[in-house]
Amino acid sequence: MIDFHSHILPGVDDGSSSVEESLKLLSLLSEQGVDTVVATPHFYPDRMSVEDFLKRREAAYKKLCECDLTGLPQIILGAEVKFYDSISRLGELELLCAGDSKTLLLEMPFSRWSEMTLKEVAALSRSGRVTVVLAHIERYLSFQTPDVWERILDSGVLTQVNASFFCGYFKKRKALNMLASGMINVIGSDCHNLTSRQPQIGKASEVIRKHFGPECLDYISEFTRELLCVSNKKVN
Ligand SMILES: [Fe+2]
Repeated sequence: MIDFHSHILPGVDDGSSSVEESLKLLSLLSEQGVDTVVATPHFYPDRMSVEDFLKRREAAYKKLCECDLTGLPQIILGAEVKFYDSISRLGELELLCAGDSKTLLLEMPFSRWSEMTLKEVAALSRSGRVTVVLAHIERYLSFQTPDVWERILDSGVLTQVNASFFCGYFKKRKALNMLASGMINVIGSDCHNLTSRQPQIGKASEVIRKHFGPECLDYISEFTRELLCVSNKKVN
């Protein structure tokens, strides 16, 4: 299984606060069947340059690599990029994609999306520069009208949900319906720490396996690997 969205790098954003916490998070992910994790620290275009972000991310990754990572999931470097109005014109966008892929995790505004926002996301997707994956779309469901999703998906944009979406009693039904209707492409833990935001990939996998069988999980994993241009071979 691949965790497509995580904050496991130490001291780089509001995620893991130390190398020790990062190692424990990686260990939990491994126990939950994750063999590959995309580290997606927050990138806020209004607060930092791409260059500074990449330097900070690299430094945090290096710190982690000084430890023994044997048996832990392989780490792919990415970013959770905050949307802004002219994001399609950001020249360095490709540098924020996950690993060697052209896949960009985009965090949308927590409000009803304007016509301009929808057009900007569609323009970015249709430009072919990157494959846009919207982060944790379950958080936006109550803000948007149903036609928004049709438009978004029609423009080639993909979607990610957090594993926790499959874990709540009421949310679970919604999550399973969305998965069945093809509205969910990839899954991430969006784990930040060992207390309030632990990884729940294992629990989510169990729910999906129970309702749709192991082939559904295999399909999600394969689709995610193709998106990230990675094989299922472990490197650590
Ligand atoms: Fe996140």
